[in-house]
Amino acid sequence: VKIIKRILAVLTVVIITVPVIAISVSLLISSPNSGKEIAEKKGLKHRMAIAHRGASYYAPELTIPAFETARDYGADYLETDVQRTKDGVLINYHDDDLKRTTNVEEIFPGRENDPVGSFTYAELMKLDAGSWFNEAHPERARPGFAGLKIPRFEEYIDSALSDKNNCGILIELKKPEYYPGIEKQILDALRNKGWLDKKYKPVVKVEKITGDLPVQWGLSKQRVILQTFDYESLKILKSLAPEIGRNLLIDDKSIKQYKTFEKMIELAVENESEMGPWGYMAWPWFVRKVHKTDKYFFVWTIDTGLYFRLFTFFGVDGVITNRSDKFLEFLGRELSDTPENILKKYN
Ligand code: G3P
Ligand code: CA
Repeated sequence: VKIIKRILAVLTVVIITVPVIAISVSLLISSPNSGKEIAEKKGLKHRMAIAHRGASYYAPELTIPAFETARDYGADYLETDVQRTKDGVLINYHDDDLKRTTNVEEIFPGRENDPVGSFTYAELMKLDAGSWFNEAHPERARPGFAGLKIPRFEEYIDSALSDKNNCGILIELKKPEYYPGIEKQILDALRNKGWLDKKYKPVVKVEKITGDLPVQWGLSKQRVILQTFDYESLKILKSLAPEIGRNLLIDDKSIKQYKTFEKMIELAVENESEMGPWGYMAWPWFVRKVHKTDKYFFVWTIDTGLYFRLFTFFGVDGVITNRSDKFLEFLGRELSDTPENILKKYN
């Protein structure tokens, strides 16, 4: 009798706790495909491979070889960081100063800690933005990287299109508070290049993904997405070009400023932006909350198979990665060409 009582007690506990756990878990996490419908509605691919600073594992970040390599192996979008020179030229550059990825110390001694925006375009053209990569990564070094220039924003735009692949462009306004009016300037550059023209039809690649609708790259209104950590700048972008896609980037500083992740979601809703949280915020309960408000979840910057598996299981939609080649492979999408082949001309 005692044993039967014990078994009954255990069964009762199991019968009560298992559904409670199952319900709690289902309330916390979303299914890996919970963003699929949202993506389709917005004209975005559900899982996309976004080349962070170009194919920055294989070539110096934010240079033309990095952009072209990612384009030619088949990345969906090229991510860049845009800043402005002292004389008003838009350039692709990430850091506040030039010392990590150029030879500024050698060419302009004493100015190595000066902000990028204190240099004229002509001055920047004296810098080598490629040799640092050869020194930092001898196993991936190529003689042709030496002497590469920091590209103008317009050169980056052009690098997204070729007869091999047409990428979307994901443009980060880096520290826009340093560059008043940069929002309009970026939009003007895109407009001048025809990228904001509704009738603009670059070479179109129609891709059939098994079980999915065909996706026409280069025709989607989402071929340009603008992103920034700076909410004020995002508001300006909305007022200037409401129809162009926006993404609110989020890191720990944003959370410090706005207090909670939920507040960030509110801001994204208010601004009609998608959401781009830093990797450690891609918890399933956050992904769920983002999807609940009909937002696409971009995650950055994750580079390993383990994280690809984990975060796609959690339901993230777009992956901003230095290893967009690996992520494409993870998705079962064959590379159009190998980085090795594409980069041969820099040997
Ligand atoms: O695309 C988002 C990501 O690029 C933000 O961080 O520092 O690489 O510009 P960061
Ligand atoms: Ca960036």
